[in-house]
Amino acid sequence: EWTPEAFVDMTVADLKKQIGDDKVVLGLSGGVDSTVAAVLLHKAIGKNLYCIFVNNGLLRKNEFESVLDQYKHMGLNVKGVDASARFLEALAGISDPEGKRKAIGKTFIDVFDDEAHRIKDVKYLAQGTIYPDVIESVSVNGPSVTIKSHHNVGGLPAYMKLKVVEPLRMLFKDEVRRVGAELEIDKELLGRHPFPGPGLAIRILGDITPEKVRILQEVDAIFINGLKEWMLYDKVWQAGAILLPVNSVGVMGDERTYEKVVALRAVESTDGMTADWVNLPYDFLQKTSNTIINRVKGVNRVVYDISSKPPATIEWE
Ligand code: XMP
Repeated sequence: EWTPEAFVDMTVADLKKQIGDDKVVLGLSGGVDSTVAAVLLHKAIGKNLYCIFVNNGLLRKNEFESVLDQYKHMGLNVKGVDASARFLEALAGISDPEGKRKAIGKTFIDVFDDEAHRIKDVKYLAQGTIYPDVIESVSVNGPSVTIKSHHNVGGLPAYMKLKVVEPLRMLFKDEVRRVGAELEIDKELLGRHPFPGPGLAIRILGDITPEKVRILQEVDAIFINGLKEWMLYDKVWQAGAILLPVNSVGVMGDERTYEKVVALRAVESTDGMTADWVNLPYDFLQKTSNTIINRVKGVNRVVYDISSKPPATIEWE
């Protein structure tokens, strides 16, 4: 039988043996997976683990600063790199979902490569890849159909010469959380909803501009903070807001408006492979919608996504 204790013991021993005295660089995302991977590696190799937390400019509101602070308190050796401008530049004019993932994946690798070169003699790159990432990237319905190419799967270009370590590759999300609890990682961090690596880029349908990122960050923060205030956050597996590429007509006072529509999505799931939309209380939806429309300039309509996966995926792109 699989237990988190046994998994931690075995994995830490394996990592020690495999890595020895070599240096490892790891990309932290603020999420459960990369954090658990980092703590496991830290347990195995201590100061030879160099963590890098990249701000791709597509994180949730205030996420970069607050998560970086949390990591420092955990004793991890973390360098925060603000590469927002570089990512936005790489994404300029790209509307296609897979095109966005490719641009982001490539920029991540470039930023990493720069950082890894700054640390001398790095041999390994560690990632928090989990089992569903592996299978969804490889195939659904057969070996040649890619549904979404998760940006963090698929290895590295040869020029990087780093070997990849993925200690969570065989685990599902709930198992990762149990391992995290075994490692005494903060409950709040472990309970965080999954957030995709490409971040808000795949929740802004169409092309990405700094203004759209700002609008979506505000909307998302109202929705997520509301879920927390209403004690609904832990009942939901994942939630977020989507900025739609359409304008709708509205009225504000005596004025006609023609502004953006946002969709809210909240799902129940165990592993992200299938998901049901959550029956959030009408009172909550009403309050949230009012707050968004009153506070976020540029949005005049809020809709709620009532589609399950399959056939709809969790993310809209
Ligand atoms: P979908 O949209 O495929 O999402 O139902 C399933 C889970 O995967 C996340 N997701 C991603 N995560 N890179 C990631 O790291 C990606 O490109 C990506 N696409 C989707 C999604 O947020 C959900 O948790």
